[in-house]
Amino acid sequence: MTRFHSPLVDRLHPYVPGEQRQGDGVTKLNTNENPYPPSPQVMEAISSVSGNDLRRYPDPEASTLCEALADYEGVSAKQVYVSNGSDETLGLAFMAFFTDKAALQYPSVSYSFYPVYCELFNIETKTIELNKDFSINLDAFTNEAGGICFPNPNAPTGMALGVDQIERLLQRYTSGVVLVDEAYADFGAQSAIGLIDRYPNLLVTRTFSKGRSLAGMRIGAAFGNEALIAAIAAVKNSFNSYPLDAIAQVAAAASIADETYFQTCKAKVVNTRERLTDALIERGFTVLPSLANFIFASPQQTDHSASELFEYLNQHNVLVRYWSKEPIQDWLRISIGTEEETDQLLSVLDMALSASS
Ligand SMILES: Cc1ncc(COP(=O)(O)O)c(C=O)c1O
Repeated sequence: MTRFHSPLVDRLHPYVPGEQRQGDGVTKLNTNENPYPPSPQVMEAISSVSGNDLRRYPDPEASTLCEALADYEGVSAKQVYVSNGSDETLGLAFMAFFTDKAALQYPSVSYSFYPVYCELFNIETKTIELNKDFSINLDAFTNEAGGICFPNPNAPTGMALGVDQIERLLQRYTSGVVLVDEAYADFGAQSAIGLIDRYPNLLVTRTFSKGRSLAGMRIGAAFGNEALIAAIAAVKNSFNSYPLDAIAQVAAAASIADETYFQTCKAKVVNTRERLTDALIERGFTVLPSLANFIFASPQQTDHSASELFEYLNQHNVLVRYWSKEPIQDWLRISIGTEEETDQLLSVLDMALSASS
């Protein structure tokens, strides 16, 4: 690096996203993107943006979009915050709620961006082991936490907690923020947004990247008590007061307006998830019960290791995600693709399984 950088830079271990390999013939099931394009109404809304709209700064409050989201979720617009992807909301929330506090607690197997933010913002952390069945053990989170954060459904397991379990945590843990990262909640999990009126320390984050097929546009949202939203806005306005661009604002609002399209794509993803789960179980895999747009599967009962299958798939242009770390070193995370992509995955997997290990 350069001798001009600050000591902070030496400390960082930046997040490494899944590979974005391009080209025909690549079956890309490694970054949990939606296999279907956004609603045609979103594309129309994007084309309707004029040069004049772009000449001006966007609405810094994204009021129209916040109102649309508030209506959709049955909350008030003051309880909604929008940003460039939920990663940005998470970053701002970590800065607003978890710095200069006791250790932030999050599951030992969860979204690998959390430790990255903690390193950047100097937040102490305590990781909480999962249960033996890979579910999140909310009872093990302690009331001494400086804050609590977990994805629901969890990533990379896909397993979801019920909203009653989250409410029990909120009843006993009142001294810090509980951040529920609902990036994958569009695919069947119960949302905790309905609890924000009753629990002033609950922040729920969502994204348009998965259920709404808009990963390329970077749109995220947070829902919480007005005071929490104001705290995130204060951090945002101390950094960049125009975070969500004018095109993203209209695209997101158009996506919310097209409920039929959203439900149709969701149903297709859920059907393919069930089909892929059954197909992998038939081939000797253990598959965790997923409510996300990916599954977490282990070839434990086959003669093949996850790392070996990952390499084989990768060499045959089928991209899935693999982490060589305990306790998930024998598992693969596979995003749900189209039916054709699923056929391709299964056919390459069958070649791998029939090859001797
Ligand atoms: C658990 C979890 N949270 C948040 C995100 C961030 O999504 P985005 O920044 O695209 O909204 C991801 C992305 O994969 C994720 O897996």
